[in-house]
Amino acid sequence: MNYKEALNNKIFEVISEASQELNIESYVIGGFVRDLLLNRNSKKDIDVVAVGSGIELALKVSDLLPKKPKVQVFKTYGTAMLRFEDTEIEFVGARKESYNLDSRNPIVEDGTLEDDQNRRDFTINALALSLNSNNFGNLSDPFNGISDLENKIIKTPLDPDITFSDDPLRMLRGIRFATQLGFEIDQTSLDSITKNAERIKIISGERIVEELNKILSTDKPSIGFLLLFKTGLLDIILPELTALNQVEEIEGHTHKNNFYHTLEVVDNICPNTDDVWLRWSALLHDIGKAPTKRFNKKQGWTFHGHEFLGGKMAKKIFERLHMPLNHKMKFVQKMVIMSSRPIVLAQDIVTDSAVRRLVFDAGEDVENLMTLCEADITTKNPNKFRKYHSNFEIVRKKIVEVEERDHVRNFQPPISGEEIMEIFDLKPSREIGMLKEAIKEAILEGEIANDYDAAYGFMMKRAEKLGLKKAEK
Ligand code: CTP
Repeated sequence: MNYKEALNNKIFEVISEASQELNIESYVIGGFVRDLLLNRNSKKDIDVVAVGSGIELALKVSDLLPKKPKVQVFKTYGTAMLRFEDTEIEFVGARKESYNLDSRNPIVEDGTLEDDQNRRDFTINALALSLNSNNFGNLSDPFNGISDLENKIIKTPLDPDITFSDDPLRMLRGIRFATQLGFEIDQTSLDSITKNAERIKIISGERIVEELNKILSTDKPSIGFLLLFKTGLLDIILPELTALNQVEEIEGHTHKNNFYHTLEVVDNICPNTDDVWLRWSALLHDIGKAPTKRFNKKQGWTFHGHEFLGGKMAKKIFERLHMPLNHKMKFVQKMVIMSSRPIVLAQDIVTDSAVRRLVFDAGEDVENLMTLCEADITTKNPNKFRKYHSNFEIVRKKIVEVEERDHVRNFQPPISGEEIMEIFDLKPSREIGMLKEAIKEAILEGEIANDYDAAYGFMMKRAEKLGLKKAEK
């Protein structure tokens, strides 16, 4: 088959010309071809394989382009990259590769196109289109990638044990593609993932997280997480999650399976946020439940303090997987720690002061927290489902009302510590903290308005009780 028409980006013409001048063959390969044939949004990165030196080809291409873009050369990998308009083009020489067993570092030899296709991860990623002038646009498909695309199958070109042990990250990539594209993993490849799961341990946290983020960014991440779970990968990557996969019964009391519940919550949150960190929060919101689970005759199953412990565990996970330890981590931790707050609040009559406290504690993240809690409603009882949602709607309305009136979201004490010191002629002391705390409490409880005059009046009364007097001027 020929796809000449589809290769309408000017860059392909230039690469073709450069190859001809250097007298080497070149092909566009991998994700770009796959997505082109799937009619997915055309990718902004293009992989080109040269049967010869990828670096030389890149330099030649740059030479032929009007602005002669800079070529970034990665000597150790024998690759080179340049930018043209809004695309990144990566050039690599066709390789015959084998990997040594305990690292990802390949032993590389030059090879043919077919050698190069052999060493790719999946048949659908091994499709190549010729950029050679004699057969420009011709498809090379030695492993029936086209029929796997049509039948929606993820399958390795070689024996999967070889493909996966060459680069264990591919096990995660396979699951990620299955989730993104709605494909099935071929049974032999899937069995091989299960068999080789332990090998994921040699892959860095950063690369694992990149795949997890892509799975979490799909419309239905549970597809990926169930595959990770069934193949044993999840047990290795996120054992805190698989620990939630249990249902126990004592004296007729059971509790829900928090693993499947968690996956439902993650799926539920997807239509309401594209923020991958909020999706991470959904994934981790119940992880404290396995270690805090207790049974007692009065209450049945309890998970006291699971949110706080979960917050600590979330931080450990971020550290272990080399995830960012900045405000993203803090955000996820905060969501986990606060994940039950709106629920507790909505169980009762929703008072203004409870809402004010929620807004005060959650600050800028209060809407995200509400989104998480709404996703957390997985009850199959339609009456309860409706009731919980309508309670949360009330909470959301009250958040807006309270915020408009009291501005506690980014609470700044209306009277500063310095001012208090000056008014009462105090040195830094306990009394100042007490006064500030009392003012804040009075505002959150709704006893006084969140403004200077109200706070001043309130403070003077309190000060009198503490035996403090206004300083003489
Ligand atoms: N590849 C591989 N094994 C890997 C990573 C990549 O064989 N562990 C090959 C595949 O042929 C893949 C190509 O390199 O198609 C480009 O990889 P990459 O850009 O990471 O992925 P894409 O397939 O392009 O898809 P996406 O951008 O969605 O990750």
